[in-house]
Amino acid sequence: MKILLIGSQGQVGQALAKTLPAIGDLVAWSRADLDLTQVEQIGPQVIAQQPDVIVNAAAYTAVDRAESEPALAHQINAEVPQRLAQAASECGAKLVHLSTDYVFNGQKNRPYQTTDVAQPLGIYGQSKHAGELAVQTHCQQHAILRTAWVYGAAGSGNFVKTMLRLGAARPTLNVVYDQVGSPTWSEDIAQAVTRLIPQLAAATFGTYHFTNSGVTSWYDFAVAIFEEAALLALPLTVTEVKPITSDRYPTPAQRPAYSVLAGEKLAALIGQTAPHWRLSLRHMLRDYLPTLSQP
Ligand SMILES: NC(=O)c1ccc[n+]([C@@H]2O[C@H](COP(=O)([O-])OP(=O)(O)OC[C@H]3O[C@@H](n4cnc5c(N)ncnc54)[C@H](OP(=O)(O)O)[C@@H]3O)[C@@H](O)[C@H]2O)c1
Repeated sequence: MKILLIGSQGQVGQALAKTLPAIGDLVAWSRADLDLTQVEQIGPQVIAQQPDVIVNAAAYTAVDRAESEPALAHQINAEVPQRLAQAASECGAKLVHLSTDYVFNGQKNRPYQTTDVAQPLGIYGQSKHAGELAVQTHCQQHAILRTAWVYGAAGSGNFVKTMLRLGAARPTLNVVYDQVGSPTWSEDIAQAVTRLIPQLAAATFGTYHFTNSGVTSWYDFAVAIFEEAALLALPLTVTEVKPITSDRYPTPAQRPAYSVLAGEKLAALIGQTAPHWRLSLRHMLRDYLPTLSQP
């Protein structure tokens, strides 16, 4: 099985580049191999590879910047998936496409099912939802995998890295407590995708949710990061984390207040329940803490 990975230098992409070789011959493309803004090149380049499976981990993920760059967000998050879906159809490949909890408005108080209606709050969520629709329309053999609150050792910025940086520089931090979700380690996503691909067939194409299990707020997540880092003897300056409401931390893009995704459908298919977020946080910090201060 030949697998073509798009976005191999992102947080999830780097994790996938490590796990996918276990199930197939991997061709991993970064921006240097294919600049996705050159949309006309996507079809010919992908079809020339004749992959059996395409995994799209590339995205425009700057949630706030998307509010002022809607055209670029739409191009990368909607037009690119459409081109990939059309190319997949043309060469008979399956397409695994990553998406987000931000397709939902976060007003529910029970975990979002894959069948719940999408109603994104901002440009990023709208562009990702448009990408989902494009994949569904143009490639019958697809799996859309929504995830949330992603962090990992790779990539330029995520909440864990930001907290560790600020926690080593400041005495107090304010963190919002009125947004809840499930922090998710990129390496767990990669494992889930790698178990999902061999299960993909006529009866299993469709939309899935994968996050680490458990639910927390950004505030509690920050406290947990500092507790786990302290156990690993990381020198920190922060002595107090203060819970604040989102209205005290205004951002260009509105975030869903409740971002929990129900993962039972995928867990049943791959025969594995996602690890609890706190265990994965501990695992990630234990493995990668010495490297996290590097840019
Ligand atoms: N991050 C989160 O919290 C989160 C939450 C929910 C869902 N997701 C979804 O999970 C998936 C993976 O996210 P991630 O956190 O791994 O994102 P990421 O770290 O921002 O990686 C995205 C990748 O896309 C690539 N890319 C963007 N524009 C490109 C272009 N014009 N040409 C070629 N490559 C381009 C980037 O390349 P460069 O490295 O060269 O910039 C980067 O490697 C995405 O579908 C995202 O929507 C993420």
